[in-house]
Amino acid sequence: MRLKDLKNWAIAQLQHLTQLPAPSNVSPQTLKIEVDVLLQSALELTKEQLIIKSNDEIDRAIIEKFQLLISRRAKSEPVAYIIGKKEFYKRTFIVNNSVLIPRPETEILVELALKNFTKMTKDFYLLDVGTGSGAIVLSIIDELREKFGQEYLKSGEIHAVDISDKALNIARKNSDNLQLSQYVKFYNSDLLNQIKINKNRTLILIVANPPYIMESVPLPSHVGLYEPYLALRAGADGLDIIRRLLAELLEYLQAGAKLIMEIGEEQEDGITKILQSYKIGNFEFVRDYSEKTRFLLI
Ligand SMILES: C[S@@+](CC[C@H](N)C(=O)[O-])C[C@H]1O[C@@H](n2cnc3c(N)ncnc32)[C@H](O)[C@@H]1O
Repeated sequence: MRLKDLKNWAIAQLQHLTQLPAPSNVSPQTLKIEVDVLLQSALELTKEQLIIKSNDEIDRAIIEKFQLLISRRAKSEPVAYIIGKKEFYKRTFIVNNSVLIPRPETEILVELALKNFTKMTKDFYLLDVGTGSGAIVLSIIDELREKFGQEYLKSGEIHAVDISDKALNIARKNSDNLQLSQYVKFYNSDLLNQIKINKNRTLILIVANPPYIMESVPLPSHVGLYEPYLALRAGADGLDIIRRLLAELLEYLQAGAKLIMEIGEEQEDGITKILQSYKIGNFEFVRDYSEKTRFLLI
């Protein structure tokens, strides 16, 4: 079979994904992109090579390998899990179904975090709560290394926690791949219970993308069937983890620590009430590219 025929076959096999009810469906354009990505993975080719070789005959063994990938996608498994990686903030992260697939909107959180670092914030303390694949903390560290160099990073103290050992294994692999392991310590911790935040630092910055989805909200099939429950759900109002985290962080926030946290688009009021009950007034909400309130800054 020629490569271009294999591609058409795959698109036909996955047509049903375009007809699923929203938000489980994919657009016809996205489907074509996904098939290309799966072809690149099975054939170990670049995007450009796929175009050049579109009339080439493909080996039987490779066709079978590709068919296996397509059968996984046909059952709604996300492409990132099938190929085992995802691009985030200019870097490639290993992912599997123990970690949330890093989302493009979370890149805004990285941007917001980076704004806090200057040459003067050398001896900073940085903590990532619910690190998952490590996408947030490792992107921040790698950017800081590029901008300020290794010595700057070594003067800081960087911790990342997750309650899932399987997620932490992936985060450690990603830190090895990016050659960042010497700068960050990973802990299995239920929020802050296994770590000590160093209060004697010029900047204390906590970043978090906690689970924040309400139990009652239905999830698209590619999310609900494949992504870890622990990474998504947070009780009846989706605030269970955020409520606990804010309580645990209170003494540090009162002492001047900063928090940048991704939140659900409808959680502004709920979070405002929690902060008011703690008499914290110095906070703001930031919107994402589609104008939805998605980040809390304290
Ligand atoms: C929404 S995911 C975020 C993953 C990653 N930071 C990202 O942005 O792609 C939330 C993460 O929090 C972790 N988590 C859930 N409950 C936790 C808890 N009580 N303490 C620490 N981590 C927790 C989950 O295992 C998951 O990896």
